Amino acid sequence: PTTRVFNLTVSEIQAAPDGVLRPVLVFNGQFPGPVIEVNRGDRVLVNVTNELANVTTVHWHGLYQNGTNWMDGTAGITQCGIPPGTSFLYNFTVDREYGTYWYHSHESTQYTDGLVGPFIVHAPEEASLRKDYDFDQIILLQDWYHDLSTALLPGYLASGNENAEPVPDNGLIQGTNFFNCSSYGADSGYNCQNNSTQATFVVAQNKRYRLRMINTGAFGEFQVSVDNHTLSVIEADATLVQPVTVNRVPIAVAQRYSVILHTNQTATNYWFRAQMNTYCFTSNNAPVLDPDVRALLTYTNTTDEPTHSADWATALELQCQDLSSSDLVPLVPEAAPSPDQTFVVDVSFQIGAYALDKAYINSTTWVPSKIPTVNQAISGLHADNSTFNANGLSSAFGPSQFVISVPEIQVIDVLVNSLDEGAHPFHLHGHKFWIMASGSSGVFDWSTYQDLNTTNPMKRDTMTIDAYGWALIRFVADNPGLWAFHCHISWHMEAGLLMQFQTRNDLMKDWTLPSDVAALCNG
Ligand code: C2O
Repeated sequence: PTTRVFNLTVSEIQAAPDGVLRPVLVFNGQFPGPVIEVNRGDRVLVNVTNELANVTTVHWHGLYQNGTNWMDGTAGITQCGIPPGTSFLYNFTVDREYGTYWYHSHESTQYTDGLVGPFIVHAPEEASLRKDYDFDQIILLQDWYHDLSTALLPGYLASGNENAEPVPDNGLIQGTNFFNCSSYGADSGYNCQNNSTQATFVVAQNKRYRLRMINTGAFGEFQVSVDNHTLSVIEADATLVQPVTVNRVPIAVAQRYSVILHTNQTATNYWFRAQMNTYCFTSNNAPVLDPDVRALLTYTNTTDEPTHSADWATALELQCQDLSSSDLVPLVPEAAPSPDQTFVVDVSFQIGAYALDKAYINSTTWVPSKIPTVNQAISGLHADNSTFNANGLSSAFGPSQFVISVPEIQVIDVLVNSLDEGAHPFHLHGHKFWIMASGSSGVFDWSTYQDLNTTNPMKRDTMTIDAYGWALIRFVADNPGLWAFHCHISWHMEAGLLMQFQTRNDLMKDWTLPSDVAALCNG
């Protein structure tokens, strides 16, 4: 296989992506981080050098890490953080998967401050798709704060005001946007210059653009549309889907969509809109200063004010939901096998002791383990300690780790019930899951359990569970290791909204942690 080598240096700089100067955490001095592009089958070496004052990690969102769980980059689960002033080599093979992914820090809320970048995997199968588009363009979307997440966290965690997540100050497209400084008074304390610009996409007429959109944000869902143009969705979370034409695509935190934009309109300027969906923030939250996030789509390479037909639907849809999974049909059919085991988990927020805002999965609020859970599992299995080889809910990792252990390959159903008034984009590491059923209210009707559509259900790695909603997901637990399943909202993960699956003890018991991975915990 081809080996591809990348270097990522993590550091803190002062930058003003939208004209407001703040400390930004960056890869290789740039924000957003550089594109990593590989072919399926490649061995990927990424040497990460940490120039921050704190530990860091890099997670490869959506990649399976089959056989290399310890390269998943999840602090407290698959590794100890990379100590300041040191380097760590991520070394893995992308062996089965291809499509649109991304990478980000998985240490506390660090990714919120800029540690994000796109990760694209190509494969020969793409050749047949390529006849449907002329250009391939990555579009990064993210909400943006004018303060470091570490400055916002104490207020969030100590508020005693359930679900008062920090509300983004702005949204960025390709890491840039305009911000109107008059939103801030003269004594705001922010160094705000009206000198930043919206992103511009120059297009040619009558061409087809594959837009690979990635929401690298911390909290906000975007509703993406292009004035006077429809979008044809062809990929969601690296699952190719039968093309479906829509006017707008809602994209939650950590999700990816590829759409085909056909530039079949008059040669002029149009708005590419990524409206921040304020409906997804609960009523406790402060208003967003400017949710109308836009980039210029220009056929003519001029900056003239765009126009659009008056009837073009740009009003925000007052819901906080994904594209319906029944509209998304995988292009390559795959049937979901019958489940071996079914688990039910309840997601809730509680104001606990000291009025801390804590999230719970059943009765566990996650605190990252000092010794990563995979390190613990490997030594526990080596020692033949039977508590590490449980089937089902595991007590082996202590009270802050909600771990479901699946000793051998099994098909697992998980019904997630949300008892919370906010929507939660849930992400499963190391696997994709089928969306078997979901609802925005009420509860799953178990009498329908035998009649679920198993023929070709949608499969992805991140889905939104609506406020007071539920989802029944299914996956084949066949990838050895400890895998996080969590709400991807930065604040919620920090509040403990994370559980894990321990899979394939039959393989894991023969593992030895690579010495450089083990050594991270000595730093
Ligand atoms: Cu994008 Cu747990 O990760």
